[in-house]
Amino acid sequence: MLGITGSIAAYKSALLTRLLIKAGAEVQVLMTPAATSFISPLTLSTLSRRSVYTQVSSEDSWNNHVDLGLWADAMIIAPLTATSLAKLANGLADNILTAVYLSARCPVFFAPAMDLDMWMHPSTQQNVKQLQTYGNHLIDVEEGELASGLSGAGRMAEPEHIVQALNRFFNRSLSMSGKSVLITAGPTYEPIDPVRFIGNHSSGKMGIAIAEEAAARGASVTLILGPSALQPESESIRLHRVTTAREMYDAAMAAFPACDVAIMAAAVADYRPATAAEEKIKKKGDHLELQLVKNPDIALTLGQSKTPGQYLIGFALETHNAEAHARGKLQRKNLDLIVLNSLQDEGAGFGHDTNKVSLIRAGNKTRELELKTKRAVAADLLDEIESLFTEKN
Ligand code: C5P
Repeated sequence: MLGITGSIAAYKSALLTRLLIKAGAEVQVLMTPAATSFISPLTLSTLSRRSVYTQVSSEDSWNNHVDLGLWADAMIIAPLTATSLAKLANGLADNILTAVYLSARCPVFFAPAMDLDMWMHPSTQQNVKQLQTYGNHLIDVEEGELASGLSGAGRMAEPEHIVQALNRFFNRSLSMSGKSVLITAGPTYEPIDPVRFIGNHSSGKMGIAIAEEAAARGASVTLILGPSALQPESESIRLHRVTTAREMYDAAMAAFPACDVAIMAAAVADYRPATAAEEKIKKKGDHLELQLVKNPDIALTLGQSKTPGQYLIGFALETHNAEAHARGKLQRKNLDLIVLNSLQDEGAGFGHDTNKVSLIRAGNKTRELELKTKRAVAADLLDEIESLFTEKN
């Protein structure tokens, strides 16, 4: 489904329609009333070989936006003006395009087009972010001459680039189908008494992002998640909630034999109180001693029982001699790949939406990634894991 809004870039939608049809897609064009001043519905219906919808209802037809929203495998809104962007970000449904957008269950892609200053305005940037939080995919503006005579960012992505972005998404989205992926994420809480525990600051965001990305690539995903305030959105992810390291260990041991890839992103407490008091410990004296005992190391145990064809990935968080320590863990725990978290960089690590990591494999040069969103880090990590599969075959 191709949605067109009222921008001068709408003339490029004719070429986009043509390219989509050539790629084998069935294209249903929706236009806002403003778009029809820039390009004729007749041009688009001729190219798409279907009637173009420009109104929710007209004298001779009632276009059911719910049916249209369910019909499409993808919705592409190109060009998307600042006004229509603001409507989508705020759930307004005052024309056929905005109404279908609200009903669409398929992946939505949007290619904004506007003048430089409109694009840079904080409200526009905020609206773009808003759509991204709904899971919609931005096809970023390109730089160059603008219709206003100004030059800079704001041009709609070229139709060829839009088609490339769709191809990337749909090829990639199935690249892990048939694979079973186990992920541990979040902190663990080790009880001291009924109201207190030993824990850590892990938010679970990185592991949840990996689970979402693997599910989006068609993998069958089991996520063993410690006490995090967050949870995955994708309904296809099997979520197993645990509290303590020992519960996480049991759940991971049970799920491991059936999985192809296990990714240990959890920040597991190394030690737990030897006994958890049955009643709340009373305050008395200036000192309180807790005796701690070691928790089982999940990654180490899975590394020992790993069979050929199974891949085990660990995380490392180090404060000094980071790479050497990470490589040591890679070997000791029999991992295929270790992700080294950088604590030095602003925006990386616990609680942030972004992360800066290095990917380390035995015998390979360390691959340092830029600071990027945790979802983008997850995509890079899964690309690397997929290349392990292909190298093996
Ligand atoms: O040894 P260290 O805790 O630094 O190793 C970190 C890696 O080992 C992470 O992948 C973490 O999820 C995993 N780990 C584990 N069980 C533990 C401790 C760490 O799975 N008890």
